[in-house]
Amino acid sequence: MTAQVRVCLVGAGRAGKVHANSLIRFTPNALVVGIVDSMPDTLQAVANEFGISERFLSLQEALEKLDFDAVVITTPTFTHRTLAVTAARARKHVFVEKPMALTIEECDEMIGAARDNKVFLQLGFMRRFSPEFATAFERIQAGEIGQPMLVKSLTHGPGLPPPWARDLRTSNGMLAEVNSHDWDCVRWLMGSNPERVYVETANFKGAARGVDTPNYYDTAIVNLRFENGGLGSISGVCPCDYGYDARVEIVGERGIMQIGDMQGQPVVVCTDRDQGLVTPIFRTWPQRFEWGYIREMQHFITAILTDTMPSVSGEDGRWAVAGVLAGTKSFLEERPVRLSEVIIGAGVQ
Ligand SMILES: NC(=O)c1ccc[n+]([C@@H]2O[C@H](COP(=O)([O-])OP(=O)(O)OC[C@H]3O[C@@H](n4cnc5c(N)ncnc54)[C@H](O)[C@@H]3O)[C@@H](O)[C@H]2O)c1
Repeated sequence: MTAQVRVCLVGAGRAGKVHANSLIRFTPNALVVGIVDSMPDTLQAVANEFGISERFLSLQEALEKLDFDAVVITTPTFTHRTLAVTAARARKHVFVEKPMALTIEECDEMIGAARDNKVFLQLGFMRRFSPEFATAFERIQAGEIGQPMLVKSLTHGPGLPPPWARDLRTSNGMLAEVNSHDWDCVRWLMGSNPERVYVETANFKGAARGVDTPNYYDTAIVNLRFENGGLGSISGVCPCDYGYDARVEIVGERGIMQIGDMQGQPVVVCTDRDQGLVTPIFRTWPQRFEWGYIREMQHFITAILTDTMPSVSGEDGRWAVAGVLAGTKSFLEERPVRLSEVIIGAGVQ
């Protein structure tokens, strides 16, 4: 067993910095040996911030010049397939951010490359590692609220996403970029795969903010039926402007469970009449899921060191992509869509 896992970060943007922090400051068995970003200025700034000396403008260059065991890929969605497959073929373990990829075919290629090259592929569904989500899952498994009948999950993000992240062609839009976590959580907590979805979308704020991307929406509601007969819903709003809000409610045959809270700190302040009652809420996703991000990196490194399959797999990522594709087809064609319509080929269960 290797004492330390040598990691090369691929992507030095917002998510890349969160994972650099988790690995360098909170994961003693990880050694960040290099960093890749195609933007020279970003690369230098982030490498300097985290004290990473080996810097590359492409994964290919890093593979040629650096010795390492694993990659953490945090580049935009449309690059995930190529980078993950390239890394897996070079026998590097792969952590890749959500959304896994743009299509089911891309997901299958990534899963196949990891399997054929005997490396792990872990998806960036950090909510599963966030203490309150992990506890809720354990308590559902223990039967505390009985069989889940209805799972309602929401994610509302504060600001307008970058152009690539709101364009269906490069990201599959907000259902993917913002709500991938909800697609994963409702399936995980229900304990069943989604079978049929119906989605409505709306665009309230785009025009005022100069967004002219085709089919742009900032508000979405998803209705879901699962294979086990359970029901679900996902709501997405981005930009919501008020903070980062992620909550889930599960109604079971014997009770109800709520995960998450709008309140970011347990301090409530009462000031003058103009401000009234001020309750601090979470401002950002790194703040809201601080321990989820740290624990998912620790899980990835431990999986490699102990040669144990990570608990969040490529198949989980593929199901979320399938939900997004069915949901997008649903709102574009204004009808309920079965997931079987978008899942092609032999499939991975
Ligand atoms: N798990 C989460 O909660 C979470 C949060 C934010 C972002 N993400 C995901 O992380 C990914 C990146 O999002 P972000 O917000 O960090 O984006 P970002 O734009 O801030 O950063 C992406 C970085 O990748 C670099 N890049 C682009 N193509 C590259 C390539 N081929 N090789 C090397 N570098 C390349 C860019 O120069 C940029 O610095 C997306 O998949 C996003 O959905 C996940």
